[in-house]
Amino acid sequence: MIDYARYDRVRAVVFRDDRLRLLDQRRLPFEEVFIDCEDADAVAQAIADLAVRGAPAIGIAGAWAVVLAAGALGEVSAAQARVSLVPVLDRLNAARPTAVNLAWALARMRGVLAEAGDDWRARVRAEAESIEREDLAANRRMGAQGAALIAPGSGVLTHCNTGSLATAGFGTALGVIRAGVALGRIARVFATETRPWMQGARLTVWELQQDGIDATLIADSAAAHLMGTGQVQWVIVGADRITAQGDVANKIGTLQLAIAARHFGVKFMVVAPWSTVDMATRSGADIPIEERDPAELLTSGGRRTVAEGVRALNPVFDVTPAALIDAIVTERGVLRAPFDVALRGASASA
Ligand code: MRU
Repeated sequence: MIDYARYDRVRAVVFRDDRLRLLDQRRLPFEEVFIDCEDADAVAQAIADLAVRGAPAIGIAGAWAVVLAAGALGEVSAAQARVSLVPVLDRLNAARPTAVNLAWALARMRGVLAEAGDDWRARVRAEAESIEREDLAANRRMGAQGAALIAPGSGVLTHCNTGSLATAGFGTALGVIRAGVALGRIARVFATETRPWMQGARLTVWELQQDGIDATLIADSAAAHLMGTGQVQWVIVGADRITAQGDVANKIGTLQLAIAARHFGVKFMVVAPWSTVDMATRSGADIPIEERDPAELLTSGGRRTVAEGVRALNPVFDVTPAALIDAIVTERGVLRAPFDVALRGASASA
């Protein structure tokens, strides 16, 4: 049994007293400050600015934003609400393009609105609660399933932040790592810095420290060296979108980890809830890849580090082809190649 009170201490998205409180992830680890969002556009802005981030967390925040927008509508019928909420749903959907969880959560909210009657407000709120509750349950299930794949004494390496901060709680890849440590299977945990936003350095090792899990931070560029010297047996990452053939969009740098892992015979595991699977998109080439302001690369810790006049390019996700993946862990089970067949089977099992 996993002691969740010990291994899951942080909550980043909290709906209380008709407000959405978001732990401002730009200010961690040194300041734990919540942003109070009173309307849906404040949530859309927080998603675009990375105050809340991580694929499942932005889906959950988006769902709660619809509850806020519903609260602002006054006494209207379900039919009127369906029309009035379209622009705000569209603005939320546009906040970030790559993680399909945002569009998925908003589609669920639209679906409930489409069939609700006079009880539409209660139904919308209940749907947001379900999205959040189901995500936590999925993470706990995936944690146990993923940990079972790891041989005792293994070293693992993760990228970006996939923990409680990025989800309803416990985490996806970080949930597997938490479970693997709790069950005594993982001997070493390495986390990459994850430039330029430093999700690994600022968030992942901080989250693990709260749990009392011993983790070692490495520069992104040290990963292949660790694999080549036998310190890592599994690379374990999350996902922002998994296509029907099993290609995986995740934080920029994931692809080079997968290539190095295959070269050195290290196993590569992707952990994501079914809300990250996009069966309507066949190949990774069809996933929209977010490019952020190149200015994010020109400074470090708020200080400019690059000569004036230098150009930068800032794609923030990349696509790992299915062929480089050993296992995709979802709450519907552990999937293995051929992933198109496995995903189709899991899709039908809903
Ligand atoms: O830009 P971010 O910080 O939102 O990117 C996050 C990632 O790439 C995560 O690996 C992914 O969303 C999975 S989080 C459980």
